[in-house]
Amino acid sequence: EVLRQVEVCLQPFKLSENQLKEVTSWLKRDMNHGLRKHRHKNAAVKMLPTFVRATPDGTERGDFLALDLGGTNLRVLHVSVGQELQRVVTMDSQICEIPQNIMLGTGEQLFDHLAQCLSTFLDTKPSLKGKTLPLGFTFSFPCEQKEIDKSILIRWTKGFNCSGVEGHDVVQLLRDAVLRRGEYDIGSIAMVNDTVGTMMSCGYGDQSCEIGMIIGTGTNACYMEEMKNVKRVEGEDGRMCINTEWGGFGDDGALSSIQTETDRQVDRKSLNPGVHIFEKMISGMYLGEVVRLVLVKLTQQKLLFDGQLSPDLLSQGKFETRFISEIEQEDVGLDKAQVILTELGLKASPVDCQLVRLVCDTLSTRSAQLCAAALATIAKRIRKNRGLDHLKTTVGVDGTVYKKHPNFSKMLQDTVKVLAPKCDIKLLISEDGSGKGAAMVTAVAQRLARQSR
Ligand code: BG6
Ligand code: GLC
Repeated sequence: EVLRQVEVCLQPFKLSENQLKEVTSWLKRDMNHGLRKHRHKNAAVKMLPTFVRATPDGTERGDFLALDLGGTNLRVLHVSVGQELQRVVTMDSQICEIPQNIMLGTGEQLFDHLAQCLSTFLDTKPSLKGKTLPLGFTFSFPCEQKEIDKSILIRWTKGFNCSGVEGHDVVQLLRDAVLRRGEYDIGSIAMVNDTVGTMMSCGYGDQSCEIGMIIGTGTNACYMEEMKNVKRVEGEDGRMCINTEWGGFGDDGALSSIQTETDRQVDRKSLNPGVHIFEKMISGMYLGEVVRLVLVKLTQQKLLFDGQLSPDLLSQGKFETRFISEIEQEDVGLDKAQVILTELGLKASPVDCQLVRLVCDTLSTRSAQLCAAALATIAKRIRKNRGLDHLKTTVGVDGTVYKKHPNFSKMLQDTVKVLAPKCDIKLLISEDGSGKGAAMVTAVAQRLARQSR
């Protein structure tokens, strides 16, 4: 009986195949809107040109620095392209802390912090000292790019909200900060979104990699679009990578029929209400919070923990997304649930643990299926663009949710097969993807410059 009541509560989070097909068709429409020449300022799916026109051809060479901001960690990397065994190799990398007060402070503080991380890294690398290396800057936020090295932040998403950066060129802000520091020089800078970096790095080994997808703190994807459809950039020939910013899907209300009251609550209490509705139903920054609110509701209905709440269960953010991956593990999941719930101050019976696992499973399934619907939309679009009966393509993927969850990837793949039956999609996890990829973009830009000389 308890199980039945819990299932009633979870019903709104279960999406039928028809609903998923609808999501696909809404996204298809919104992608078309986003690509228009005069895109409406408030278009939900922004479809941003990235000025990445070519995927790697394997002949790129050189040493690069990469700076990666916007995921769980801020990282600096030294990347070598094509020199050892024709591969892209991370020679070394370092994680820098990025304190909350900087994530919410001024832009100047943020960029000074980035310049300082670069400096600390270079200090440990005598072989790089004095060299002026080109830098790939992975900046995982929506930017209106004018060129590969001119990129205006449209708005912050996820956990960042630094003043004085929206509307400004982040490449310039980085250069200014390096100059202010006055300790070292950097060469040309290429700025890429993490999705683009991920696609590019997997493309060095697999030339059919034409989609990049992130399911981590946030969620997003990019893909290679025909230039003739990229109306906001001059030229008709060839292709350009488009950063879809699918996280913003639903910001105009398109998803209201599948949003639950809990989704609305998560949105209202977030740093940016009304922004990135799709992302808030999917990604790591929010998934744990959705589960927490469902658990609170079930407890209030006396379906869990004997109706006893705990202060932790009532605190925003206390149920972390990584708990979901742990609780859903095949053999040890229920034991982990017991430990996690006890640490949250709850008295959980074995039945409670199973019900909590059911809640986790329901929400991670929804997340994977929504991603699948969005990925299917892109794959179908590429197939139609090329006039193919059947498309075979590879997606470079990264992000903690995708990588850590025991069956996210399988759920996603199973659903894509149903929604895009004429597309044969291989998902490839990219290690250090976006950092390496940013270096790749810099390298490809250099190769193209060389070839045109
Ligand atoms: C990392 C990238 O590998 O994946 C980041 O380098 C990216 O730039 C991240 O944002 C996504 O994962 P998460 O889970 O750290 O947000
Ligand atoms: C957010 C950002 C987007 C990024 C994604 C994944 O949605 O807006 O640019 O790609 O998170 O990190």
